[in-house]
Amino acid sequence: APDIPVANVQAHLNQFQSIATANGGNRAHGRTGYRASIDYVQAQLNAAGYTTSLHSFTSGGATGWNLLAEWPRGDANNVLMAGGHLDSVPAGPGINDNGSGSAALLEIALTIARQNYTPDKRIRFGWWGAEERGLVGSTAYVNSLSSAERGRIKAYVNFDMIGSPNPGYFVYSASGQPSGSLALQQVLQEPFAAMGVPTELTSVGGRSDHAAFASAGIPVGGLFTGAEVTKTAAQAQKWGGTSGQAFDRCYHASCDTTSNINVTALDRNADAIAYAIWTLSAGTPPPSG
Ligand code: PHE
Ligand code: CA
Ligand code: ZN
Ligand code: ZN
Ligand code: ZN
Repeated sequence: APDIPVANVQAHLNQFQSIATANGGNRAHGRTGYRASIDYVQAQLNAAGYTTSLHSFTSGGATGWNLLAEWPRGDANNVLMAGGHLDSVPAGPGINDNGSGSAALLEIALTIARQNYTPDKRIRFGWWGAEERGLVGSTAYVNSLSSAERGRIKAYVNFDMIGSPNPGYFVYSASGQPSGSLALQQVLQEPFAAMGVPTELTSVGGRSDHAAFASAGIPVGGLFTGAEVTKTAAQAQKWGGTSGQAFDRCYHASCDTTSNINVTALDRNADAIAYAIWTLSAGTPPPSG
């Protein structure tokens, strides 16, 4: 799998920050900064050769959109999905939550195109709307699929907050939520082991967009660098950073800006996601368990 250039991921974060700044300080559902974020990501994907579409829904009286992008190679009956939410809370620009996952996924998608990668499976990316209003966009997307379409999705991996300023390295636990997948957990642990970075399993339950896929019986996994919870002394010992302080002190706040990113964590997670996507999209047997 390729090494994702973290400078390119940061460049996308700078764009999300500029979009927020030009649109009242946020990229929230129903606000102009959300639509501008969609337009930025979609334009890059279209130029790279992706098949993109917007899936619209309504929440709180406002129209929202999910952005879907498929790389038009590989078996269309055997789909690997990777996603994260593109909306922020109204309080701030949402650069760690979840510009970070959104930017890493965009740069990985662009890398697939630059390499002219030919996977065995079909790779489909999702940037979800209105996650912050209760997983609204991802739930609407999964509910919009026929059972045949749902059945083609063999796995979903979720990336929500992967550049926390006082980072932990958390992998979604296979046993920590419905439809948790040991195969996905392990393929997301492997790259960190190779980097010599210890990980912990976390039970994220229904706190992000994987939940809609899990409810549909699709195997799920993901990565996370921590939100409002305090880093323990033992965690600071193995990961560095500051014990007794939240993984992200700017969680859901106006200070979730480009200053609220640990670039090392962002780089490691982007590289780990690329490893997982390359590994999971090659070879015929779908991940199971
Ligand atoms: N979904 C939460 C939010 O956007 C953050 C989160 C991600 C929490 C992953 C737990 C696990 O606010
Ligand atoms: Ca990298
Ligand atoms: Zn959030
Ligand atoms: Zn989030
Ligand atoms: Zn690196």
